[in-house]
Amino acid sequence: MRDGVLAQLSQDLARREEQGILRELRVKGQGVDFYSNDYLGLASNNACHEMLTAALQHNPQWLRGATGSRLVSGNSAFVLSVEDFIAKQHETERALLFPSGYMANLALFSCLPKRNDTILLDEFVHRSVIDGCRLSFAKKMRFLHNDLDHLESRLAKTPGKCWIAVESLYSMEGDFAPLHDLVLLAERYGASLIVDEAHAMGVFGYGLVYTQALQERVCATVVTYGKAMGAHGAAVLGNNTVIDYLVNFAAPFIYTTGQPDWFAATIRNSYEFLKMNPRLREDLQSRITCFTSAGLPTFSGASSPVQSVPFPGVARLMAVREMLESQSLFTFAVRPPTVQSGSERLRISLHAFNTDAEIRQLTTILKELHDTE
Ligand SMILES: Cc1ncc(COP(=O)(O)O)c(C=O)c1O
Repeated sequence: MRDGVLAQLSQDLARREEQGILRELRVKGQGVDFYSNDYLGLASNNACHEMLTAALQHNPQWLRGATGSRLVSGNSAFVLSVEDFIAKQHETERALLFPSGYMANLALFSCLPKRNDTILLDEFVHRSVIDGCRLSFAKKMRFLHNDLDHLESRLAKTPGKCWIAVESLYSMEGDFAPLHDLVLLAERYGASLIVDEAHAMGVFGYGLVYTQALQERVCATVVTYGKAMGAHGAAVLGNNTVIDYLVNFAAPFIYTTGQPDWFAATIRNSYEFLKMNPRLREDLQSRITCFTSAGLPTFSGASSPVQSVPFPGVARLMAVREMLESQSLFTFAVRPPTVQSGSERLRISLHAFNTDAEIRQLTTILKELHDTE
């Protein structure tokens, strides 16, 4: 029996290998980073780390374990103060911290939509949202990516309460959701909009919901701290009712040990460092302009830190990635099942710390490859 199960698992892995889509853990390479989500370079910024180290030295008690769920022994006045600080920064009523964006999405989607509700998901929304929906008894339906007409036709035909799930900046395409129009549509149909801002947070101020002043018109926003904020974790932003509801009903919040205080300290440190260094965002924008001025075909054509260049076919895509790596240029080959077969792409993340020369080296190679296709 045991051998039978293992044989089946091995067969599945072998099939993946044959298809060229086997996932393997690789150590981060030494070279030019065009693949991390560290858009502003905070994760490796010495000045940012020095600020944090100094704060930790003054507060060694932050290193203690949380000791239990936040609803038992694992909450502290410090964590509450950081949540309060986050809510103030985003001009929302409340913020609730989570150990990751994945957990924040599991919490939201598993608990807010109810059995007779319907969740309408943009077809390209992140896997953490999909997994959260799988834990919900609500009905789930996809709508075509960023297609407001398709979404409206679904809203018009769906009885009962609807929830809409989108990302403000799509992680694999690099394009933006039409947030303002989505809010109007949701309001017209009495639907509740939930926005995942994992890739916009920090890159565009405190995210696009904040910069477009939509906080009170969306039901909840997820911001993550492991990408442009260079740290780890996430927060759900919302009003008192939404946050109290999560604290009472969200299993991924309730049935897990809280984070130690240093976790909240790293997040507050990133906000403070970013406020003191607005230049990093400007540097990133000029790197984005350097990339887009090369005129490469991309999925979105948007002015975004995520640029996805199509290279259909797994073998071709992997050959391109290997070739770039041989020149110390590290990019991310996006293959099935992350994207559909035929939609393979090279995902290029741009950073404030990339130089124009590095970007030109990359775009020149990619242009040659595309021209010879
Ligand atoms: C759009 C989106 N949402 C959520 C997440 C999950 O965030 P975290 O990495 O903090 O778990 C990711 C991570 O890749 C993401 O791209």
